[in-house]
Amino acid sequence: MTILKGAVIGYPVQKSKSPLIYRHWLKAYGIPGNYEAIEIQADELSHRLSQLIDQGYNGLSVTLPHKQTIMSLCDEIDDTARAIGAVNSIQIKDGKLYATNTDAFGFIQNIKIAVPDFIFKNRRACVLGAGGAARAIIQGLVEQGMTDIIVTNRTRTRAEDMVTTFPSLRVVDWADKDQALSGIDLLVNTTSLGMEGQDRLDISLDHLPPSAVVNDIVYYPLMTDLLKNAESRGNKPITGIGMLIHQACRSFHNWCGVDPVVTDDLIQAVL
Ligand SMILES: NC(=O)c1ccc[n+]([C@@H]2O[C@H](COP(=O)([O-])OP(=O)(O)OC[C@H]3O[C@@H](n4cnc5c(N)ncnc54)[C@H](OP(=O)(O)O)[C@@H]3O)[C@@H](O)[C@H]2O)c1
Repeated sequence: MTILKGAVIGYPVQKSKSPLIYRHWLKAYGIPGNYEAIEIQADELSHRLSQLIDQGYNGLSVTLPHKQTIMSLCDEIDDTARAIGAVNSIQIKDGKLYATNTDAFGFIQNIKIAVPDFIFKNRRACVLGAGGAARAIIQGLVEQGMTDIIVTNRTRTRAEDMVTTFPSLRVVDWADKDQALSGIDLLVNTTSLGMEGQDRLDISLDHLPPSAVVNDIVYYPLMTDLLKNAESRGNKPITGIGMLIHQACRSFHNWCGVDPVVTDDLIQAVL
């Protein structure tokens, strides 16, 4: 049986939920091993990574500020991580680093579980934001066959940069986002707006079809104003906590060969 020697690496990492999630599953499935949070600053990544390999670590979660810079240190990067341009999960085997990005999987899986009859293929989405999370989400949507994806971001050039990787994207001005919701099947907020301590997301849902699903990947608070507003007008709201846990499911599968079940106990513990 695999013994997991796992860790989340980043700076800062004290607030990471990853140790709680992976330790929960190690215990639940009787898998030997441990999972820690290890602080590594940007300028020490290369030599600290070598140390972790020497110490026998075999599963790493990667968080800020290393998601992009670690790519040059990996032996293999899969197509998903390449398209997203960032790595968040590494398996170490025989001293070699195999990298992927599990955010796209986590995002899609969360929607599939929350709305089992949701059809992605040939449907239309609007993504608010063009940061790292948006790239992963757009990759997930493209993989599912979504043909018409609108992206709108405060800094328009950042959205336009994504068209190089995802040529079918349509970029809309941040000022025009309310009108862009007409005919949309899925609205996703990937900005940090609406998060506790951040500014509110100022958006009107008047043009959004009643059948559209609304997913906010901000999960603190769990029911953001966007989701409350969506729910009050009959749109199906999906919270962001599922994406966080399902992206971890994929890493756990890669490292330990087990597909963990996401239980309410775990969701409550993470919240
Ligand atoms: N549920 C999950 O599993 C999960 C996973 C990843 C991230 N998240 C959450 O998703 C959010 C984004 O993460 P990220 O990694 O993509 O961050 P990021 O790369 O820093 O991107 C931040 C995004 O928010 C926008 N933004 C920030 N402040 C804004 C403002 N005042 N007005 C308009 N837009 C603003 C940025 O627009 P500009 O380009 O104009 O700055 C950018 O599009 C965070 O809240 C994070 O906690 C959740």
